Amino acid sequence: MYTQSFNVPDSPGATAPAAASAGEDPVRQAAFDARIDADGRIEPQDWMPEAYRRTLVRQISQHAHSEIVGMLPEGNWISRAPSLKRKAILIAKVQDEGGHGLYLYSAAETLGTSRDQMLDALHSGRAKYSSIFNYPTLTWADVGVIGWLVDGAAIMNQVPLCRCSYGPYARAMVRVCKEESFHQRQGYEALLVMMTGTDEQKAMVQDAVNRWWWKCLAMFGPPDADSPNSAQGMRWGIKRVSNDELRQKFVDATVPQARVLGVTLPDPDLRWNEERQHYDYGQIDWNEFWESVNGNGPCNRERLATRVKAYRDGEWVRDAALAHAAKKRARSMKEAA
Ligand code: 3HC
Repeated sequence: MYTQSFNVPDSPGATAPAAASAGEDPVRQAAFDARIDADGRIEPQDWMPEAYRRTLVRQISQHAHSEIVGMLPEGNWISRAPSLKRKAILIAKVQDEGGHGLYLYSAAETLGTSRDQMLDALHSGRAKYSSIFNYPTLTWADVGVIGWLVDGAAIMNQVPLCRCSYGPYARAMVRVCKEESFHQRQGYEALLVMMTGTDEQKAMVQDAVNRWWWKCLAMFGPPDADSPNSAQGMRWGIKRVSNDELRQKFVDATVPQARVLGVTLPDPDLRWNEERQHYDYGQIDWNEFWESVNGNGPCNRERLATRVKAYRDGEWVRDAALAHAAKKRARSMKEAA
C-alpha cells in the first residue's frame, strides 16, 4: 500500500560534500563522501565521520526505543481483545514490535554503543522515543486505528529507510517494513469489520480516528524548516524523504482509505488542491507535540515506569541466560582440552 516511497532520488549526497571536521582524516573523509555520493553503503568496518556515527546511534536507538515503548499501548488490550482471532493477531503484532526493537538495538550496537548504554538513556528519560506512544488507548477501536494510522505513518517513514546509507540499519528495515505492512492491514481490516456493526461501534471508530489523526500527522517530526537534523541526515543518505514530504504522502494515501472506511478525518481544512495535486490540510498543534516529546504527554511517566519495571523484572532471566552461556562455554572448553 505504501511502496511508492521507494520512488526517491538515487543520489541524496549530490550536493557539495561536507568538509572533514577537525581531527578527521581528509583522505578517508573524501573516500566516505565519494561512497555516499555514489549512493553506496557504509558498513560497520568502514571508516565514517564521528558525526555520521553519532547521528545514526541517535536515530536508530530512538527508533528502537519507539518500538519497545510502542508495545505498551496495544499490549494493554491483549487480555481484552473481543475474540480469540483478534487476540492471536494482537499478540503476534505486539511480539513483532519487540522483535523490531531487537533488530534495531543490534544495528545500533554495530556502531560501538552498547545495549546497556541505550537502555540507560531510555530509562533515565534522556533518550527520545516516538511522541505517538504517550497517548492512552481508550477503546478497542484505538487498537484498529493504531494499526491503520500509526503503523501506516510508520511505514510511510520507514520504507525509504530500507535504502539508508548505513547497511545494518537498511537491512533491518526491510523485515520491519514487511511486518509493519501486515500491522497496518490488520488494523484497517478490524476497523472495516467494526464499521459494519452497530451505531455504537461505528461511533467508537470515529471517536478513535478523531483522537489519533493529528497526533499521527505530528509523528513525522517538525516541519522541514524547523527540523535541525534533516539537511545533514539527507546529505548523508540516512533520511531519503523529508518530514513534510512524508506527511503529505501520508495524507494523500489516507484520505481515500478513510472514505472507503466511512469515517471523517477531523480537519475542516482538508481538501484536494487541484494545482498542487495534493490534499491541503490544517495546522498541527506543535506545542502539544513538543509536550509529548519532552516528557509531559498524558502517558510519558506511566510508559517509562512500565519499561523500567519490565527491565528490572527481567533481570533474573538475563542472569540465568548468562550463567547458562558461561556453563556451556566451560563445558566445551573442557571437551576440547
Ligand atoms: N517523536 C519524538 N521525537 C521526535 C519525533 C517524534 N515523532 N519527530 C522528531 N523528533 C525529534 C527528533 O528525534 C529530534 O530530536 P534530537 O535531535 O534530540 O534527536 C528533534 O525532534 C528534531 O527533529 P528532526 O526532524 O530534526 O529529527 P530527525 O531528522 O532525526 O527526524 C524522524 C525525526 C523522522 C523521527 C527520524 O529520526 C526517523 O525517521 N527515525 C526513524 C523512524 C522512527 O524512529 N520512527 C518512530 C516511530 S516507530 C514506530 O512507530 C513503531 C511502529 O511499530 C509503529
